[in-house]
Amino acid sequence: MYYNWTKDTNTEELKIVCNLIKNGELVIFPTETVYGIGANALDSNAVNKIFIAKGRPSDNPLIVHIANKSDIDKIAKDITKMEKKLINSFMPGPFTIILKRKECVPNNVSAGLDTVAVRMPDNIIAKAIITYSGVPIAAPSANISGRPSGTSVDDIRKELEGKVSAIVDGGKSNIGLESTVVKVVDEVPVILRPGKVTPEQIEKTVGKVVIDSNVFAKPKKDTKVESPGMKYRHYAPNTKCKLFYAKDEKDLIFEINKQIRIYNNVVVLGFKEHKDKINVKENNYIEVSSKDNIEEYAKNIYTDLRKADNLNANVILIEGVEKKSFGIAIMNRLLRTCEYDYKEL
Ligand code: TXA
Ligand code: MG
Repeated sequence: MYYNWTKDTNTEELKIVCNLIKNGELVIFPTETVYGIGANALDSNAVNKIFIAKGRPSDNPLIVHIANKSDIDKIAKDITKMEKKLINSFMPGPFTIILKRKECVPNNVSAGLDTVAVRMPDNIIAKAIITYSGVPIAAPSANISGRPSGTSVDDIRKELEGKVSAIVDGGKSNIGLESTVVKVVDEVPVILRPGKVTPEQIEKTVGKVVIDSNVFAKPKKDTKVESPGMKYRHYAPNTKCKLFYAKDEKDLIFEINKQIRIYNNVVVLGFKEHKDKINVKENNYIEVSSKDNIEEYAKNIYTDLRKADNLNANVILIEGVEKKSFGIAIMNRLLRTCEYDYKEL
């Protein structure tokens, strides 16, 4: 069933949706980062349905969503001072913390690890669904494994309809990129996946932060990674993608125009200001955002990647952003989108 709550949460429908969760069914719901495919995190059969619906490798663990900080103790244990400080500073919000797992959390949620990823979304609809379901909700991003995450229902309806019991529409996701994932190792917060909560913000709060080496690099085959999600192709359309960044925009425009001559039939995902300088047909230029608005860039990127894919080009050329602050998260995703086919000029 499709429920439209873009204007208001419908309380009758909320009961139906929460009953589905209680009964072990899957529900797609909005969060402030991206849409999630949710199931009762304490029901391993329900959780298993998520892996099947997404075609997700079973060694990639899920994030458990809660509505109140007091619920953390129900699923995690031995929480350290540093972890508490991070929780109090960044929750609710686009922030996930890896904690020691309590026994009641089924193995498949955590893909057999002794940890559990916990997040408290800052979104009215997500909060209501978690609260009235009365259980923590395990939810990965709403997309078939490997595809761009869903940031609007229009983007994912075709892909996932029939695989879930309900889809709740809360409009376009506010942030558009998945949460920052942090694990505290030897008292130092390590960013496993960058997001809207930036390294600078974490450092300001607790004095130190480390960015995991796999955030920009391609994990080597068969090596252990802290966050299994880093191993897989991700956030990717079917069309081949190439990523470019230059401090000087003249260099960037020159390079993109050169690539257009090489590949012809290309789609360009670029800045509004560059449209007139890049030699593609009007319809093959997708304006992701204004030059200096990375918030807008993040919000649009997954929808635009899907749009670009539908144009059946030989290649999608993408103008990247500077790897700093929230731009780190954007570039982390785009590097995977492009399977590390990246040129910095
Ligand atoms: O913003 C978000 O985080 C969205 C919304 C729906 O909350 N969720 C999301 O889930 O992005 P997913 O499944 O697409 O990504 C979860 C990431 C994966 O990279 C996974 O490997 C990592 O979190 N992860 C989950 N549990 C972990 C654990 N116990 N240890 C290390 N990494 C973990
Ligand atoms: Mg995902």
